[in-house]
Amino acid sequence: MRSHLLSSLAILAAPAISAAESATYDYIVVGSGPGGGPLASNLARAGYSTLLIEAGGDESDNPTYSELGNFLEAANDEATRWDFWVKHSDDAQQDLKFHHNTWDTGDGTFYIGNDPPAGAKHLGIQYPRAAVLGGCAMHNAGVCSLPEDDQWNLVVNLTGDTSWEAPKMRKYLTQIEANEYLPAGNAAHGYKGWLKTSVGDLGWAKAPNTAAVKILDKFAQSIGVSSASSDRSTLFSPDILGDEPNKDQTSSLFNMVSHADSKGRRSTPGDFVKSTLADPAKFPLTLKLRTLVTKILFSNSTTESKPRAIGVEVMAGASLYKADPKHIPGTKGPVSQYFAKEVIISGGAFNSPQILKLSGIGPRAELEKLGIKVVKDLPGVGENLGDNYEASILAISKEPLNAGLTTSIFRTVNAATKNRNIFTWCGPFSFEGFWPGFPTNYGPNQWECAMVHIGPKSQAGSVKLVTADPQDTPDINFRFFQKQGAADLAELVAATNLLRQTWLAAANTTTAPFTELHPCPGELGKPTAGSCSDAAQAEYFKLQAYSHHATSSCSIGADADPLAVLDSKFRVRGVAGLRVVDASAFPVVPGAFPVVPTMILSQKATEDILAEAGKKPVKLRV
Ligand SMILES: Cc1cc2nc3c(=O)[nH]c(=O)nc-3n(C[C@H](O)[C@H](O)[C@H](O)COP(=O)(O)OP(=O)(O)OC[C@H]3O[C@@H](n4cnc5c(N)ncnc54)[C@H](O)[C@@H]3O)c2cc1C
Ligand SMILES: *[C@@H]1O[C@H](CO)[C@@H](O)[C@H](O)[C@H]1NC(C)=O
Ligand SMILES: *[C@@H]1O[C@H](CO)[C@@H](O)[C@H](O)[C@H]1NC(C)=O
Ligand SMILES: *[C@@H]1O[C@H](CO)[C@@H](O)[C@H](O)[C@H]1NC(C)=O
Repeated sequence: MRSHLLSSLAILAAPAISAAESATYDYIVVGSGPGGGPLASNLARAGYSTLLIEAGGDESDNPTYSELGNFLEAANDEATRWDFWVKHSDDAQQDLKFHHNTWDTGDGTFYIGNDPPAGAKHLGIQYPRAAVLGGCAMHNAGVCSLPEDDQWNLVVNLTGDTSWEAPKMRKYLTQIEANEYLPAGNAAHGYKGWLKTSVGDLGWAKAPNTAAVKILDKFAQSIGVSSASSDRSTLFSPDILGDEPNKDQTSSLFNMVSHADSKGRRSTPGDFVKSTLADPAKFPLTLKLRTLVTKILFSNSTTESKPRAIGVEVMAGASLYKADPKHIPGTKGPVSQYFAKEVIISGGAFNSPQILKLSGIGPRAELEKLGIKVVKDLPGVGENLGDNYEASILAISKEPLNAGLTTSIFRTVNAATKNRNIFTWCGPFSFEGFWPGFPTNYGPNQWECAMVHIGPKSQAGSVKLVTADPQDTPDINFRFFQKQGAADLAELVAATNLLRQTWLAAANTTTAPFTELHPCPGELGKPTAGSCSDAAQAEYFKLQAYSHHATSSCSIGADADPLAVLDSKFRVRGVAGLRVVDASAFPVVPGAFPVVPTMILSQKATEDILAEAGKKPVKLRV
């Protein structure tokens, strides 16, 4: 209601451009998520005047967001939700078979499914993002995990920049982390940073011989893990953020780590921004909330060889972007401009390429078709979009299983490399992807293993402009499984078959039988002929896989690669004074969960930017 009122007021304001502030900042950072929020805070803490611009508001004191356990409510909450309606392939008929397609019925409700009422408008496949101080770290599940070492080393190979070597990247985690789950002194971790990390409760695994523990034992055995103790919670002692040799090749069970404190309070980039603002040292950080950046401004200097970013243009007001379900058609906000010595875009994997393209940086033909003046023809902007494939095996047991989460990263026998390829968490929940109102609650007997596939062999997705209007959403197509899809699907099927076998360990308990809902419907262990072949399961996953870890749409790449958008210091190629620092910078999808990798990347960018500033006379404004 409040934002509706603000939007209505915004209509009354004249949309003429005003140079609201003549102040010139050292840095402007666009977007306060895991990429931009920590970076803006760090730059201000280093004494540089920094303007952080965020389209959303501040919900950090709202328990829906501050209590991590409320993440399902947070991800559904209209206060922050940006709905992107994405495609999974170029085949519209195939996409229509996704079971959670969303339609606008026209009466203020959504229809979810494959048999919409007459006249309903097809929206597509929902992909939620959070427009709020802290970005998607405010509504995510808080799961912490790291990229494979070779995904950092790949940047060294591509660019020759050895500062990306995996052992060197570890340092950034130790700088940002405030570990609450391990005794002080563990060299792989940090204890004085802003990012609190904690683990879950494994009390359920201490009770011997429950159905859940039988399944757990079978799982451990299936991935080659054992424990000498009768207390099965000891199976979870490996550290998911640890730095053991060969960690990427070692299948293990883990106690899930969250970016939250040990009381379950979410720890986010927004907290770091707010503590920076509140610090008695009066760091020169300015935060503008409810402000949509519409384009980057460039200087027309003829003395420089490259166009130079000198600021941004914004529209002020809440819910201006059309992904916001609270947006009122026709609403605009007053336009103003802010100037800085350098501009850093951290709008996330969908919005960073959109902002670059709106500003004239992107594939020439796409920009010219929309009448956008080309500042730099950079064909890779919006390309190389990748994501972890996600799928699940879901069943209903006869009685509830008394269990918390079993988390594991393991390698299927058919994995493409020696590295682990599946992150899974199993327990009494259901998660089948995203739609408004997700997930379905199947009651106390629901039992699922959710899977995140690591290292998708295809990154053929794209973010393309539909119009030159910065309030419009872009066209987002992931093109799942386009390259070597059969191999990735086979890995998901192998993981599913392994996990299903572990459930059969509960066959003689009162929790059995299990009725599998998908991918292989029927009584567990008694497949109906034909319904549960590997081919049938692969076909199911091809149509029903989902994702929510989008990355790589403004990728770091080699000098010689025409599709490289950034160099190894996050600088946008072909222009000056402009960087992209967020999940869109990763050349490949980092591990199974991108949020901590993005925070690590933000910390690295801080170091790179400060090193460069040290060489230039940048005026301090403390
Ligand atoms: C529902 C959900 C659950 C997730 N769960 C997990 C998880 O458990 N673990 C994990 O590792 N990852 C998870 N992720 C992914 C993870 O949260 C993201 O990868 C991460 O937040 C990316 O950070 P970012 O800084 O690149 O972008 P974002 O977090 O998207 O931040 C971008 C910010 O920029 C702002 N912005 C965008 N455009 C503009 C503009 N034009 N003007 C002004 N501001 C703008 C946005 O409002 C936003 O605040 C989840 C994602 C979702 C959607
Ligand atoms: C880097 O390049 C070397 C030499 O070509 C190769 O052996 C190695 O596998 C590459 N590593 C990665 C992570 O790409
Ligand atoms: C550069 O030129 C464009 C169009 O000619 C103009 O709109 C813009 O204001 C100029 N920028 C500056 C910084 O002078
Ligand atoms: C369940 O009981 C049957 C019959 O006694 C036995 O054959 C089977 O191995 C048992 N299964 C498990 C998982 O214990």
